Amino acid sequence: MSTLAVYPGSFDPITNGHVDIIARGARLFDRIIVAILVNAEKAPLFTMDERVEIGREVFKPYKNVEIDTFNGLLVDYVERRGAQVIVRGLRAVSDFEFEFNMALMNQKLKPSIDTVFMMPAEQYTYISSRLIKEVFALGGRVEGLVPELVESRLRAKVVKQV
Ligand code: PNS
Repeated sequence: MSTLAVYPGSFDPITNGHVDIIARGARLFDRIIVAILVNAEKAPLFTMDERVEIGREVFKPYKNVEIDTFNGLLVDYVERRGAQVIVRGLRAVSDFEFEFNMALMNQKLKPSIDTVFMMPAEQYTYISSRLIKEVFALGGRVEGLVPELVESRLRAKVVKQV
């Protein structure tokens, strides 16, 4: 049996921490679907289309990584796609409580689906989409923290706003 995993999230924007987890997941599972939640935030920086396009471009070299979107309950989407595993990244102890509750709730909703936690490489443990947006908006450098495509798209957004 081949194992299909779903890595869900907002990915607004995708960071090198996410990329690291997806690359690890692509080695561990036969296939991994990066599932972007529709309408996670009321005012996302990147539209859904932009996030999908960026994800597809970044993971073009990976034949077993798919970028998709989902609505509604995550476990329903995972079941619909015939996947067995939900992947979530754990960066620090501070992530644990939220992730633990979410994994247990998902287990309660669909006991046949397992959550697998993966750690990114140490250099990515402090990166989050929220911090990237804040630092970039205030003129800080995010080089090496996000894919180059994200960096250029962030720059284009700032230019547009000026
Ligand atoms: O990138 P994020 O914001 O940490 O991702 C959170 C996400 C999308 C994984 C979570 O909000 C989610 O699964 N939402 C879908 C709705 C759902 O199933 N909620 C119950 C989860 S216990």
